[in-house]
Amino acid sequence: MPDKLLMRFRVNGEPQEVAVRVEKTLLEVLREDLGLTGTKHGCELGECGMCAVAIGGRPILSCLALAVECQDQEITTVEGLAKDGRLDPLQETFAALGAAQCGYCTPAFLVTARALLDRDPHPSRKTIAKALSGALCRCTGYLKIFEAVEEAMLKATAPGAAHASPPPASTPGAPAPSTAPSPAPGGSPA
Ligand code: FES
Ligand code: FES
Repeated sequence: MPDKLLMRFRVNGEPQEVAVRVEKTLLEVLREDLGLTGTKHGCELGECGMCAVAIGGRPILSCLALAVECQDQEITTVEGLAKDGRLDPLQETFAALGAAQCGYCTPAFLVTARALLDRDPHPSRKTIAKALSGALCRCTGYLKIFEAVEEAMLKATAPGAAHASPPPASTPGAPAPSTAPSPAPGGSPA
């Protein structure tokens, strides 16, 4: 069996083709081969939830998924949330309500919350808490995160819902800039 396989993915609506070692996880391919460092790594054991991405609209832990098994699937990372130069409402409410401090966990919460709102536009607080329970935040706490999800839900369902604005210089959940937040234990700066 060759060391590398040519794999095809569809990431954030774009086709991607890359030769990667067969044992690589989806997390490794996203970050190392596709340069999508918005998805964070932490424990790489399926315990911290930092590596969440959506496949076919369902959140998964990319550290536990072999890339080879994710071929030809629709993968969404935090980089795919902003559309046509507009932030996702969740990115706006996370910023407005202070639902991110170091921001290391924010991509996972954003991707997971987007998947939730797409399948259930009116989740209860209990449903939100359950959906997000797999991701650990070590500094903000969860109250503001839950409130930001609820606020985004209200914005999306309000009559004449306000449209998102162009991304600011600092976008919650965007790929870590050079002033990257401190890594989570076991993580890396980006
Ligand atoms: S659960 Fe994937 S990095 Fe922790
Ligand atoms: S904002 Fe959640 S870990 Fe820092």
